[in-house]
Amino acid sequence: MKEYLKHHEWEIIEEGLDPHYNKISESVFSIGNGRMGQRANFEEEYTGETLRGSYVAGVYYPDKTRVGWWKNGYPEYFAKVLNAPNWIGIHVSIDNQKLDLAKCKVEDFRRVLDMRRGLLSRSFVATLGDGRKLRVESKRFCSMANGELGAIRYAITPINFTAKALLSIYVDADVVNKDSNYDEKFWEEVYKEASEGKAIVTAQTKKTFFHVTTGMRYVVETDGKKAAIDRINLEQREKFAGNIVQVELKEGKETAIYKYAAVLSSENHAKDQLVKACNLVLDNAVSAGFNTLLEEHAKVWEHKWEECDITIEGDIAAQQGIRFNIFQLTQTYTGEDERLNIGPKGFTGEKYGGSTYWDTEAYCLPFYLSTAEPKVARNLLIYRYKHLDKAIENAKKLGFKDGAAFYPFVTMNGEECHNEWEITFEEIHRTSAMAYAMRDYIEYTDDKAYLSEYGLEVLIGIARYWSQRVNFSAEKNKFVVLGVTGPNEYENNVNNNWYTNYLGAWTLRFTQQAVDYVKSADMKRFNEIVSKTNFREEEETSRWKEIVEKMYYPMDEKRGIILQQDGFMDKEILRVSELKKEDRPLNQKWSWDRILRSCFIKQADVLQGIYLFEDDFDIETIRKNYDFYEPLTVHESSLSPCVHVILASKLGYKSNAYDLYLRTARLDLDDYNNDTEEGCHITSMAGTWMSVVKGFGGMRVRNGKLYFNPFIPDQWKSYSFRIEFRGRVLKIKISKEGVETKLESGAPLEIDVKGETVQLK
Ligand code: BGC
Repeated sequence: MKEYLKHHEWEIIEEGLDPHYNKISESVFSIGNGRMGQRANFEEEYTGETLRGSYVAGVYYPDKTRVGWWKNGYPEYFAKVLNAPNWIGIHVSIDNQKLDLAKCKVEDFRRVLDMRRGLLSRSFVATLGDGRKLRVESKRFCSMANGELGAIRYAITPINFTAKALLSIYVDADVVNKDSNYDEKFWEEVYKEASEGKAIVTAQTKKTFFHVTTGMRYVVETDGKKAAIDRINLEQREKFAGNIVQVELKEGKETAIYKYAAVLSSENHAKDQLVKACNLVLDNAVSAGFNTLLEEHAKVWEHKWEECDITIEGDIAAQQGIRFNIFQLTQTYTGEDERLNIGPKGFTGEKYGGSTYWDTEAYCLPFYLSTAEPKVARNLLIYRYKHLDKAIENAKKLGFKDGAAFYPFVTMNGEECHNEWEITFEEIHRTSAMAYAMRDYIEYTDDKAYLSEYGLEVLIGIARYWSQRVNFSAEKNKFVVLGVTGPNEYENNVNNNWYTNYLGAWTLRFTQQAVDYVKSADMKRFNEIVSKTNFREEEETSRWKEIVEKMYYPMDEKRGIILQQDGFMDKEILRVSELKKEDRPLNQKWSWDRILRSCFIKQADVLQGIYLFEDDFDIETIRKNYDFYEPLTVHESSLSPCVHVILASKLGYKSNAYDLYLRTARLDLDDYNNDTEEGCHITSMAGTWMSVVKGFGGMRVRNGKLYFNPFIPDQWKSYSFRIEFRGRVLKIKISKEGVETKLESGAPLEIDVKGETVQLK
């Protein structure tokens, strides 16, 4: 855990440049707008430790799979979010001395992320080898008002000299992915141009043939007026285009470079129109100017914050944490484009390929349901509907038949990309996360029509998978699920993981309900689905019923708890508190063999199931399971603490809930798991939001009604959040004095607060 960032309600602040923390900061200070994202790399050259990262939503590369021992059924490739052309570069050279913070003395370094306005700033004083001192201030944003635009203001003030400087302002598609399996470069040049004041490069991805056009224009000013430029040289090489501008930097006077960059992809434009469209974005940007563009961008943020801010009084660390999480989530996915999804690292790093995981359905959906119009969550569901054919193909490759759908663990276009057998083939619970998300969505929005329109087709496919994946054990006289990995990935190839069995059986029940609903609501559509999917209703549903009735659930009767999987109690049961500090995190310190044999749990597993199906269990059962499993859990998946916060809050374990909240909220800010340099944990950020709203706020939806059962952590004076619910906007404020509820817009609504009915008007 590191605590080098200053606490502030609206800002993330780093003071002093410590090169060891640079990659962490590059992740934490990332900016994006749903269409593109950028790590907080420096504009100028930097030869120190850095992970350069610019990303464009939806653009990926199928990197050929690399595994030691090939297993039949492995996918051919791992789809990677691409490190996209660099649009931020501004290199500075003064009398042949390059400005490079790894090679000069740096003072007064400050990096600030203003979350309220989505603005990244950086300032420092650098002393070059010959004693020349200069002050640099840079600001940049990825426009929320125009997803294809980024803008930079980079200002240099010489402190003790006047000299000619060369400014290289460029776009560069000659970039690599650090995680490239065969050190291959993924981009090829299609087109480039450089002229005075402008450069454009169109690059194409190998194999997937996405085109990305990256263009830039710039304006140089000294003391607020157009600078006298001595000379401009055009710079072009493979995949690179730019201008080298020679200007005189005058002692005490500020020279500012305004760089406007447009990043457009063939996902949104015809390939032959990209350059034209890029020029248009740039023309408009230059004529609007940096300040106007920033204002437009900040206005969108203002509106976003009105929709989804959470305020916490009395605890700045917690306040900063939640805002950071909401900020990152909001700039990763805006919900406007149903082809897009939320990668576990969003636009902040390469790890996890930037692809879609079950994280979206199991963790992110509730955030978007409550903070945005229903269309956003619906788009996330439709994304999976569009992948149904691929999920069926995926199941077929593994030997399933008759339209069984097995959703991938990791995907970009519906095809499986993951290639570790214990996850690809065995972590099968993920296919049901798609079904659970539908339930969540319908419960929240009441949009049952979703089932007729899209949902039932998906459910039938998933139900078919389960009905083929289980097998009947004559020995137990029950259906069992063998050879699986549950959510706790520190156990592989186990039999009867309770969470998996529970979810499988639940999916079959839910699919049956969906069949009944669609039949009663729209028989014509039902018949269409029957013929499209070759649904043999009687035969298939009777098999589902039999499985549901005879599913096996491992239990420890003696302790009165659910068993994570068969044989779990054969392990030596230790507690996390008994582990030595040097052993953590286990996944970086222990051999895999040792992890597998230990009782330590990576992330909520039994408790994940209890969280999803809370109303199926009485409070004593929840308590016993929590008391048993939480002390064994190392929370080495960022997805883990939030589930525990929600259950601990329900059980009245206030201080445990609060500690785990801080861990999820400040996971990246304080680098708890020692891995933030690879990127921020975007999907678990939705879990942080849930920790406050569903955990401390106790929000639930049951039979169309909103329930709140809040408490306030001792450390806080008050907290408040806003919820969109069925056409209304509600504000809930919880303080030591009590709970205030307000209907900000929409029709009157009856809600339940701590067991009492409240009429909101
Ligand atoms: C977790 C998975 C998760 C993945 C991506 C892993 O560490 O165990 O549950 O889907 O990260 O966030």
